[in-house]
Amino acid sequence: MKYKERTKNFTFGFDIFENFQGMCFILSENGNILDSNKSASENLKRTYEELLNSDFFEIFEESNRTKINDVFKKCLSDKKSASVPAQINVENSFLTFNLIFTPFNDQNDPSIQYSFALARDITAQKKVEEELIKFYSVAENTVNPLQITNLAGKMIYVNRAFVEASGYSKEELLGQNPKIFGSGKHPKKFWKNMWDTIISGKVWVGEVENRRKNGKPFFTQLLVSPILDSEGKVISFFGIHRDLSEKKMLEKQLIHTQKMESIGTLAAGVAHEVGNPLASISALVQVVLRSTDDEFVKEKLGLVRNQVTRISKIIRDLVDFSRPSNYELQLTDVNQIITEAVEIVKVGKKSKQIKFDMELDEKIPSLPLVADQLQQVFVNILLNAIDAICEPDNLKEDNKIISKSYKTDDNVVITFTDTGMGIAEENTAKIFEPFFTTKKEGKGTGLGLWVSYGIIKSFQGDIKVKSTAGEGTTFNISLPIQV
Ligand SMILES: Nc1ncnc2c1ncn2[C@@H]1O[C@H](COP(=O)(O)OP(=O)(O)OP(=O)(O)O)[C@@H](O)[C@H]1O
Ligand SMILES: [Mg+2]
Repeated sequence: MKYKERTKNFTFGFDIFENFQGMCFILSENGNILDSNKSASENLKRTYEELLNSDFFEIFEESNRTKINDVFKKCLSDKKSASVPAQINVENSFLTFNLIFTPFNDQNDPSIQYSFALARDITAQKKVEEELIKFYSVAENTVNPLQITNLAGKMIYVNRAFVEASGYSKEELLGQNPKIFGSGKHPKKFWKNMWDTIISGKVWVGEVENRRKNGKPFFTQLLVSPILDSEGKVISFFGIHRDLSEKKMLEKQLIHTQKMESIGTLAAGVAHEVGNPLASISALVQVVLRSTDDEFVKEKLGLVRNQVTRISKIIRDLVDFSRPSNYELQLTDVNQIITEAVEIVKVGKKSKQIKFDMELDEKIPSLPLVADQLQQVFVNILLNAIDAICEPDNLKEDNKIISKSYKTDDNVVITFTDTGMGIAEENTAKIFEPFFTTKKEGKGTGLGLWVSYGIIKSFQGDIKVKSTAGEGTTFNISLPIQV
């Protein structure tokens, strides 16, 4: 089928390609150069005469030649245009060309075939492509979440780290506003300030709290920079996040430690100030009790004495926390202390319905500690675990408490895991604070864990909690192995 009936026929020679930008050649059926233009001579640094009748394929890098030849032959046999990338080494610099062959027949003798060859320099374009691939792979593989948004504020690119950090898939993110990653914790003014900055072509940096798909927070330092076109017009925005979770966590820990320390100082002061008058009250109550026969007075003073005893216990706890271990440290077998603590709490009525498991590593070293104090910590934790299991809401069949000990490179670690009611997430930071209790009035003072915290810290150790509300809790105590 004929493509088109020409209405007009032009007659022109190869001269018309003389000033053409690309290299142009007429090739014979076996690949000899029958004609070439100025650009060919310039690019190949060879005169017209040198090129004439030479082998076209020899222009190209040796490794390319077979491929080019194949395409050339196929183009002649198919009578169809075909293209192939081709490399040329001119004076030791490599140039990449896009080579297009177009076959045609001699007008006078249709049995003679020629090919028109056009080679356009795509070295620069190729370089840009390579750069792009390079940057793309850097963007994809960096640990920092990256996003590109268009002027409408919709994400048009997110890298792998962004997908991972946000918890959304690429498909869920593209086309969305980065707001879906936002926590809603920052005021409108905060984001307005960001937009004003980047729209004016400047870079904006700020600390942001983001929200992952699962609702968990993700703290980052965000840098947003406008992407400008060659005329300096903003065409899109580029955002890069730096993970600050660890920094935030350390900050939180530091604040917590400082808070505990200042509470400790306060408590020591209060305990001291209250302790002395309390001792006087206690002594006076004893004296009056002994010197009266009045039953009414005796009964009321007995009540006073009970209250005084209660306050004294609290004061003792406060002192226990703040007193830097002024007992003598002795090499202590931690496993033995765990076993004893478990024996003590097993005696209680509530413990009947609980299985106590122990997984103690016999090889852990003895540590310089105060055995009584450490036992107090373990008993505290175990009693809390028993209370948590016996909560009326905690309906479980095989309730148990697992006490474990093991060794890491630097620490002896002791864990207590229970199947109790667990701790609500918002409370996990508070349980070590003094007087924090969720127990009914008269059942708990909220000092147990606080005192335990103080004791473990005085041994240079650490105490942590992990809990899932409704499932159970694990307390983790690590004590350094001194070398
Ligand atoms: N294993 C646990 N499971 C669930 N909640 C726990 C557990 N251990 C501690 N808690 C929570 O932490 C709070 C504080 O514990 P802490 O031992 O300091 O005080 P308490 O047990 O309430 O009173 P006490 O001073 O008598 O020990 C508890 O009231 C409870 O809410
Ligand atoms: Mg307790």
